[in-house]
This record gives sequence, structure tokens and C-alpha cells, in this order.
Amino acid sequence: MKPIIKWAGGKSQILPLLIERLPENFNRYFEPFAGGLALALALGKEEIFISDVSSEVINLYECVAQNPDRVLAELADFATTEKDYYRIRSMDKEPGFANMDVFKKAARFLYLNKNGYNGLWRVNKDGFNNVPRGRYSCIHYGVENVREVGRYLGAHAHIEKCSFEQTTIHARENDFVYFDPPYHNTFTNYNAQGFNEEMQRRLKAEVDRLTQLNVKVMLSNNDDIFIRELYADYNIVGINAKRYLNSDGNNRTDGREVIVTNY
Ligand SMILES: C[S@@+](CC[C@H](N)C(=O)[O-])C[C@H]1O[C@@H](n2cnc3c(N)ncnc32)[C@H](O)[C@@H]1O
Repeated sequence: MKPIIKWAGGKSQILPLLIERLPENFNRYFEPFAGGLALALALGKEEIFISDVSSEVINLYECVAQNPDRVLAELADFATTEKDYYRIRSMDKEPGFANMDVFKKAARFLYLNKNGYNGLWRVNKDGFNNVPRGRYSCIHYGVENVREVGRYLGAHAHIEKCSFEQTTIHARENDFVYFDPPYHNTFTNYNAQGFNEEMQRRLKAEVDRLTQLNVKVMLSNNDDIFIRELYADYNIVGINAKRYLNSDGNNRTDGREVIVTNY
């Protein structure tokens, strides 16, 4: 299966490099920075725990897991003209948005993700989406993939909107956790809070705790001195990765990143 959304920092391009570094065996799979879920969907394991602080991302996964066709039916009601795009984008400013039907909300998220500029999801400090419309001649929502991912998540996934430690609290010996946080010193505007060095240190403390419990951990991050020093006690390999999305949304560069493992 493939991601149903385009996501900044999505791992589709480096999947082979991640797969080749997986532990030889493990029980349950955890992805606490879910985003587009590229690795989780490629693996398709029996029992997975996925979470993200983004309520939009998690609501989408909860809805497709429950009933993908209801999301697709709502999506079919959203026209793709410029006027419609900006009307649908500004729904988050309406007073009733918090109580909007969750399936409609999921469809709106998928719509903005596919119709917005470069698949970028960006909110301003008030939490309102501010991505301009993309210039696409034809929009593909990947209807069959949405159904397949929905069926898979419905049968195999524990899905929660929370910060990473609240998911990994459930991890036990020989489970496997893949951490793909917002990278140090790069795009961190997934949500209004951001992810600073203090958060990177909190994440490292969680990696240490899991290591003590014999949980297998793999982590992606930027290749820089801060990250290399933080994880100096672990195995680190540097890789070359194409960054397709960054804070500008249009600057596509090659970047060095690291894969850290505790096995
Ligand atoms: C690099 S992306 C993950 C990309 C994902 N692996 C993929 O393949 O698309 C980082 C994700 O972390 C989420 N995030 C940011 N702060 C978080 C936190 N404290 N706890 C959990 N998730 C967080 C963001 O919403 C974003 O979806």
C-alpha cells in the first residue's frame, strides 16, 4: 500500500534504505510520527500503533479505517475550481468547524492535501490552513488505494492523536518503533507548536527508555552535529535523500540525513 496523502518529510523516496535496515524480526510495529505512513503501509504488519499530533491527519486515518467510502462520498461533493478551493480552505475559520462531521472534515483534509500547492500542509500561528491552490490539470485521489488503506487500518491499527511518548508507552520487548520526527533545523510547521531542540532531547530520552526495555528503535533525522552528538551512543548511518518538500514548498534539494538504530 502507498500513502493516501502527500506529506512533508514523507519517506516514500528512501523506503528501500529504511527497509534494508529493519530489525530481522520484531512483534508489533509503532510509528508515533505517522504523517503519510509510508513505512507502515509498505510493511503492512499484523498489529500497528500509529499516532500524530495533527488532529487532521489522525481524523483522516480514523475515518478511512471506519468507512473509506463515506470519506470518498464527501470528497466527491468538493469541486476543484479556484473559487471552491478557497471556500473549502476557509472552512476552518467558520464558527461551526470544530463540530463539523468528522467524515466531511477528513474529506476536506484529503481535498486540500491533493489540491493545495505541492501537497504542502501548513497552518499559521492560529492554526488556519494557509496553503495556496496548486496548479494541477487533473487531480487523482487514488480512490482504490484509499479503500485498501482504510480496510487495512480498520483491521490492524491502533490510531491515536497524541504526542509520541503516549504511544510508545505501550511498546514492549521485541516490538519495533520507527521514529520519523520533524527534522532538526528544518521544516517544523506541521502544526502551530513546532518541534524545537528541547523536543529533540525529549525524543532522545524516550529512545533511551525504550532501549532499556529491549524495544527495537530506528529513527530518521537531519545529518548534523547536534543529532550526531545526541545519538553518539547508537548506530548511525548517513544517507542521501531527496527532499521534495520544505518550508518553501518549491525548493527541491538533495539532503543528508541519518538513520539511527539501537540494534
Ligand atoms: C517527518 S513527518 C513524518 C513523515 C512520515 N514518516 C511519512 O512517511 O510521511 C513528522 C510528523 O510528526 C508530527 N509531529 C510533530 N510533533 C509531534 C509530536 N510531538 N508527537 C507526535 N507527532 C508529532 C507531524 O505532525 C508530522 O506528521
